Amino acid sequence: MNIDLKEYITEKRAKIDQFIIEYFQPFIIPQVLHDSVLYSLTAGGKRIRPLLCIASYEACNGKEDIIPYAVAIEFIHTYSLIHDDLPAMDNDDLRRGKPTNHKVFGEGIAILAGDGLLTEAFRILSNPLYAKIKADTLLRVIYEISMAAGLRGMVAGQAYDLISEGREPNREIVEFIHLHKTAAMIRASVKTGALLAEASEDKINRLESYGEAIGLAFQIVDDILDIESTTEVMGKPQGSDIQKGKMTYPRVYGIEKSRQKAKELIDKALERLSIFDEKAEPLRQIAFYIFKRTS
Ligand code: IPE
Ligand code: IPE
Ligand code: MG
Ligand code: MG
Ligand code: MG
Repeated sequence: MNIDLKEYITEKRAKIDQFIIEYFQPFIIPQVLHDSVLYSLTAGGKRIRPLLCIASYEACNGKEDIIPYAVAIEFIHTYSLIHDDLPAMDNDDLRRGKPTNHKVFGEGIAILAGDGLLTEAFRILSNPLYAKIKADTLLRVIYEISMAAGLRGMVAGQAYDLISEGREPNREIVEFIHLHKTAAMIRASVKTGALLAEASEDKINRLESYGEAIGLAFQIVDDILDIESTTEVMGKPQGSDIQKGKMTYPRVYGIEKSRQKAKELIDKALERLSIFDEKAEPLRQIAFYIFKRTS
């Protein structure tokens, strides 16, 4: 199957964006919280995690509309970015080409917008009425996503990221940070699609390791872009990692070795998809895109 990834992404993104807009009618009270949440959700993120969830579901022959569950993952991701940018964390002023949430709404509202998005995600995930999904399947999805987002996943990675600022380059530590702060949620996004489609355990396992490999590559490329790209193209401040002495792949391995590692991870991810038919074509192309992306 010769799919046009751009077209595929445009079509899915329109559905994701529409669900988000409809979800916030009626308005949240107070209005400032509503505005803060929607400001970040509609700022122009790439939507890579919900896209991966949907592409994985379709690769496993899923036929329902699972947009709400995919959007729940984007809520968690957006919360993580709002908090990541706070002065107490990465202290960044620009995100998705706009002033960061706390710059516009203040730190208190930004913290609460993040808290709200994280919690609201589980409100969506625990509602079986959005699609014909069995309650025990949703329970398994909720377990995977909470594992990936919580103290044994993204939050642990973010904590290690913070306490490693300015420390000696260390291979084990950088791998731990990246697998937890970024790869865990990307892996869970892909796995969620497979679980919702009731795929075989073999397919679930393969998609899970595809997700982990592209997730690690995604953060390695993010580290490289922090050095090589520009603020305009990325929509976030170039050089932010170096300024803070972050434990990144380029800092530990240098740029070329980091790029090579990312490429090897993409190859490994593609190998895991070998048993899937042409319905996995979007997943294959997204893996290439992650390696080639510029923002
Ligand atoms: C940024 O994620 C944070 C990282 C894990 C590197 P994305 O690059 O997916 O950000 P958006 O959602 O497109 O803004
Ligand atoms: C953040 O990593 C990963 C998250 C869980 C938010 P970074 O701190 O490198 O992400 P950016 O570069 O600010 O998007
Ligand atoms: Mg960070
Ligand atoms: Mg950051
Ligand atoms: Mg970064």
